[in-house]
Amino acid sequence: MTFENSRAAAVKSSPSMAVSMAAKRLIQEGRDIVDLSLGEPDFEPPAHVSDAACAAIRAGGLRYGVPAGNEPLRRAIAAKFSRDNGLSFGLDEIVVGNGAKQLLFDAFLATLEKGDEVVIPTPCWVSYGDIVTLNGGTPVYVECPAASGFKLTAAQLEAAITPRTRWLMLNSPSNPTGAVMTRTEYEALGAVLAKHPNILVLSDEIYEHILLADQPFVSFGEACPALRERTLIVNGVSKAYAMTGWRVGYAAGPKGLIAAMAKMQSQSVTSVSAPAQAAALAALDGDQSPVGEGVALFRRRAALVANRLGTIPGIDFAPPPGAFYAFIGISGLLGRRSPAGAQIVDDTAFARVLLEEFGVSSIPGIAFGAPGHIRFSIAASDAQLEKACDRLEAMVRALA
Ligand SMILES: Cc1ncc(COP(=O)(O)O)c(C=O)c1O
Repeated sequence: MTFENSRAAAVKSSPSMAVSMAAKRLIQEGRDIVDLSLGEPDFEPPAHVSDAACAAIRAGGLRYGVPAGNEPLRRAIAAKFSRDNGLSFGLDEIVVGNGAKQLLFDAFLATLEKGDEVVIPTPCWVSYGDIVTLNGGTPVYVECPAASGFKLTAAQLEAAITPRTRWLMLNSPSNPTGAVMTRTEYEALGAVLAKHPNILVLSDEIYEHILLADQPFVSFGEACPALRERTLIVNGVSKAYAMTGWRVGYAAGPKGLIAAMAKMQSQSVTSVSAPAQAAALAALDGDQSPVGEGVALFRRRAALVANRLGTIPGIDFAPPPGAFYAFIGISGLLGRRSPAGAQIVDDTAFARVLLEEFGVSSIPGIAFGAPGHIRFSIAASDAQLEKACDRLEAMVRALA
């Protein structure tokens, strides 16, 4: 019997999750695998975060929450936008979800009509396209090559817009490339959007704090205030506070859109788990020094990986200015053969050989709409990163 309807059948499970599961299976079978597939910090959240969740549980009275998020947390989120981005949002312009991912889902579920187009610059996070598809929209991918820093230009945006365009997706710092948009680059996109008043902008700023070079972060909302009434900023505590498993994200935007998203939550998840909301409140309101400590760690690891990758022949790699990934060009190695005889026809084959014959799990670039690459998460220990680079180098040198 087939269970899936056409909507479910049109999408795949998250490729990064699938690779991570495959790696975990091999580890369970006793294989020595370095798993660099998932993008999540490998350290614990600050102690005051876990303490706040425990205190909320012990205090009791945990009932269904407000679909848009409990008020103390929304107040902390408003304070965060003011503190970090110079943006002012009222409580009715903020919604809390089960991770940034659910907020993307809410936004598209609430706004897309069948066939509406969403412009998605690639390389992009693996889930954008499928979340759009699941909600009846049509992803319109715009390829942004390494030569332009993997960034969408105003000319590319202009060319991608049609009468059906409903949303533009932006993500800076980017997963997987780490590209960070400048104020000027955003202003150029803003000038194009000014001519198309029906297009909404979703700026996914989840890696805001993970800056690996000296380039500052600029929120799209800050760069293009004239578009405030059609900009949705999505962020969350997963990456900055090492809270991926807590599942708390937040979004800020125009009141009508936020109310529509909250309505989607009221009919689906009801609200985010109360202890997780208490933890997110502590993360946003508490001592921010752990964020800087995490970033310092990622910077050191990024330097370690850059030093190693720079010496491996046949691969293309430029140190990323943000996020915690190494996006590695391997197109120069396609067409070769592995020691076990596998033909490396594409990045998927490359990643498979790297996993099965050399024990490193990575995500093939095709999952991000960028074939010819693989992505390493650098959110792993120095020892694991060294080992992964040793093995990648051994693989490259062993290709016939
Ligand atoms: C670009 C991007 N947006 C959103 C998310 C999801 O974040 P959350 O854990 O808040 O759902 C991720 C997670 O990997 C991501 O890389």
